[in-house]
Amino acid sequence: MQRNRRKPAGLSRSRTLRICGDTTPVKCQLGVNSCMPQFGIAVAVMNPIKPETQVADEGTTRMSRDTLSITDNRTGKSYEVPIKNDTIHATDLRQIKVQADDFGMMSYDPAFNNTALCQSKITYIDGDKGILRYRGYSIEELAEKSTYLETAYLILRGELPTRSQLEEWTYNVTHHTFIHESVKKFLDGFHYDAHPMGMMISAIAALSTFYPEAKDIFNKESRMKQTYRLVGKMPTLAAFSYRHSLGMPFAYPDNELSYTGNFLNMLFKTSELKYRPNPTLERALDILFILHADHEQNCSANAMRCVGSSHVDPFSATAAATAALYGPLHGGANEEVLRMLLEIGSLANVPAFIQRVKAGETKLMGFGHRVYKNYDPRARIIKHVADGVFEIMGRNPLLNIALECERIALEDDYFVSRKLYPNVDFYTGLIYQSMGFPVTMFPVLFAIPRTSGWIAQWEEMLLDPEQKIARPRQVYMGYDLRPYKSLEQRS
Ligand code: CMC
Repeated sequence: MQRNRRKPAGLSRSRTLRICGDTTPVKCQLGVNSCMPQFGIAVAVMNPIKPETQVADEGTTRMSRDTLSITDNRTGKSYEVPIKNDTIHATDLRQIKVQADDFGMMSYDPAFNNTALCQSKITYIDGDKGILRYRGYSIEELAEKSTYLETAYLILRGELPTRSQLEEWTYNVTHHTFIHESVKKFLDGFHYDAHPMGMMISAIAALSTFYPEAKDIFNKESRMKQTYRLVGKMPTLAAFSYRHSLGMPFAYPDNELSYTGNFLNMLFKTSELKYRPNPTLERALDILFILHADHEQNCSANAMRCVGSSHVDPFSATAAATAALYGPLHGGANEEVLRMLLEIGSLANVPAFIQRVKAGETKLMGFGHRVYKNYDPRARIIKHVADGVFEIMGRNPLLNIALECERIALEDDYFVSRKLYPNVDFYTGLIYQSMGFPVTMFPVLFAIPRTSGWIAQWEEMLLDPEQKIARPRQVYMGYDLRPYKSLEQRS
């Protein structure tokens, strides 16, 4: 095995780092090949005391500073690194070396458990308290009072629109809902049972070939135009993918309808001259779209930022984000929840299923979250939306199974001790199914509204002078240099 750190010559000190916040020394035992944040460095100081504060410490009085002191016990050297916004800069660790020609200390954080990759002003989550806000507005208030398009504007531009701004924004999105006829031909090429998310990912990427000027990413006008196109065309691509799977002719956008009303029109219109969406279902979908519009640095937002950081056009980056969303641990979870509830089949089978989850044989899909260690505030709102939809469409028979899973899980120590609560995907599938969507469309219904969040994250990344091409480091644990073996030598 090759190690990418040299052993300190002639030093008998322990392989540890001593980390001190302003006033409270924290000793972390660190193996030299396992680096730091996983073991505590980035969380060492949660509430730094403001500069100039005098703090009593074991009988002495010290001035506090917004810095972190680190002692490398391999060398005995101490370092003082600045703390800003409760974080230290990872590159400040690079000065920590044993030999002058060492690469320097890195932080090791698989899956970004404790790494902030950006500063953002878009979405705020307090996972312990179950708080979600877009641009400072609570998700509860937006779900009650706003519309998806208004919320998308807020997320993208930072402020709620004035009446004229909203009219202009709505007009522009509405007038970019049509797709090029060649995209239709392209969608026609898919097999009849192609998963609509696979079709969406391909079609979104294909849009970049229709709008080559989208490469001009540092041109504000161009970014705005691509935003209208992406937000406008996502429902059209989704609806056309759905109609293709049914073998039904495509229904074209109707500019007189609302964003969600038009989407329902393109999905469900048959022979009627004018499709009139049910206002309760139209509003329910609009609320679901508001709830899904952004969720800070989740897997797909990270994909959008990471791929976008290579300065590719926004259609290609959005295709990558959509692909990230497709996975069952992210936006594909709503589809998996429905399949799980169908597999459970009856109330009587719930306890046995929960036992299988606790034995580690399967997961309770729609439960758990990296950030929320409390009830997902979106899930709470969705339960209310479900009541309204079930009143019109009839109660989904799977609801009782879902409620029983939740009841048992909220009382069971396995879930309580791990802080596993229902997330946004636990109840959405039941609503979508009652509204007539097949399960394969569920992640698509997540991707449409998330597009505004992705674009906002992408644009914030592009305009942030601190951002560069995303390129993480690794801890190489493979072979050192070895000679090539001929075929005959390999047994
Ligand atoms: N069912 C059973 N056990 C679970 C579940 C679950 N749904 N989620 C987490 N755990 C357990 C996990 O096995 C681990 O146990 P232990 O400590 O004994 O090893 C512990 O809880 C911590 O989980 P984790 O996997 O370390 O947590 P994570 O932050 O890496 O993963 C997650 C978060 C959402 C991927 C995960 O909770 C999960 O797979 N949930 C099911 C899929 C799902 O519903 N995804 C939608 C997420 S919300 C919508 C979105 O934003 O995409």
